Amino acid sequence: MSCPRVGYTMRLPPTLCGYCALTLSGQSGRVATIRVGAGRRNCVPHTRNQGDREGSRMAGAGLAGPHRESARRGLLDQFRRVREGSVALCRPLAIEDYGLQTMPDASPAKWHLAHTSWFFETFLLLAFAPGYRPFHPAFDHLFNSYYVTHGTPFPRPQRGFLSRPTVAEVYAYRQAVDEALAELIGAADPADWSRIEPLVMLGIHHEQQHQELLLTDLKHGLSHNPLKPAYRTDLPEPPKRQPAALRWRDYPGGISAIGADAGCFAYDNELPRHRCWLEDFSLAERLVSNAEYLEFIADGGYREPRWWLSEGWARVQSQAWQAPLYWENRDGEWWHFTLAGMRPVDPAAPVVHVSHYEADAYASWAGRRLPTEAEWEVAAAAVSPPAMGANLREAGFLHPVAAPPGERTMQLFGDVWEWTASAYTPYPGFRTANGPVGEYNGKFMSGQMVLRGGSCVTPGDHIRASYRNFFYPGDRWQFSGIRLAGTL
Ligand SMILES: [Fe+2]
Repeated sequence: MSCPRVGYTMRLPPTLCGYCALTLSGQSGRVATIRVGAGRRNCVPHTRNQGDREGSRMAGAGLAGPHRESARRGLLDQFRRVREGSVALCRPLAIEDYGLQTMPDASPAKWHLAHTSWFFETFLLLAFAPGYRPFHPAFDHLFNSYYVTHGTPFPRPQRGFLSRPTVAEVYAYRQAVDEALAELIGAADPADWSRIEPLVMLGIHHEQQHQELLLTDLKHGLSHNPLKPAYRTDLPEPPKRQPAALRWRDYPGGISAIGADAGCFAYDNELPRHRCWLEDFSLAERLVSNAEYLEFIADGGYREPRWWLSEGWARVQSQAWQAPLYWENRDGEWWHFTLAGMRPVDPAAPVVHVSHYEADAYASWAGRRLPTEAEWEVAAAAVSPPAMGANLREAGFLHPVAAPPGERTMQLFGDVWEWTASAYTPYPGFRTANGPVGEYNGKFMSGQMVLRGGSCVTPGDHIRASYRNFFYPGDRWQFSGIRLAGTL
């Protein structure tokens, strides 16, 4: 998945410091803290000088002493909270679950825990902490994901081979990295801070991405066990709701701007903000439900090639797809595997775990189409902040839930990542960051499709209207679903 933009110089007016809630003056970074639902979204200061990505000047740099200390404390608090979040996600696991890898795309929980620590160790501790020595000489190979300009990654399909280091050793690794990074944040030379802060923020968001992957990968792993074990047996039952009527909202075309705003954290693939042309379009006010998708199945959707892209139809044939991933027909009733174990498919809930091919085929069958990412973002920007009332991870269901009654555009954030009709390509003027972290996003801009909006396992302070997720069109193990669009 994606990576961040690391450092820009900025020239912004006096504004509010989100770490200490004091008004800053001068040319330091703008930080805004927005309270959204159960989460807290920190907008990280960043710069906009495209010519000097390594020369960032973040909130702490150039600030007076009390503000700088406050900025460091805020960052340390956020770092600790997110790191603890990864550990908390693993508490329900049995020790045997940590090494589970059921396909090359999915990684063991233990690997996620180690790799996120490797990220902080490699790009921060070894670069900036005086005298820091690697926790283990082999970990740079074992837990490097894909940073080939840095080193030689261990093959992804073989991550499940790593019975050693043990889970206990990985937790010890995490603790050592946490302690060293806390010391670095507290004592870093002010001259280095402008480079350290954006990398710490990048590492935090990287860890949040892996928290979501940890759950999606674990779900895939547990689903392959005939016992169908639940990740958690205490997850709340989703609310029982009648399917909401499918309403449509029209949007006028014209010139719109998409991409990340200055002032908030965003990955490099969300930049630069730029203009685009949209024709008049309409967007469904909620996601496609299981009941609607069942109509597609019942109408022979998986048997009729005319609805499918050629590659999609080939996949239907080769993989014998007849329903979304994790669905199982038991005596005529559809059930599916969830993080709470097997549950009956709720007709009113959004369909989930469909590929782009299935989303596109469903839209064709329904006489509609998928939205472009620009259409989606224009609609979503009007309903930010994103976490307000949304079914994101903090809502606790860890599964999409039926839309509540109402006459408004719903479920844009949370529930399921929404496949768009847009290929994952660079925005006009996109540039990767210098150094190995430049490999985070840009090198994956080929052959993948953009998804928007986050899911029921996305942390609430990790999603925004400009966020671009991306997966291959045949991928189904993410919490991916469908919103329909139309051309007026
Ligand atoms: Fe990663």
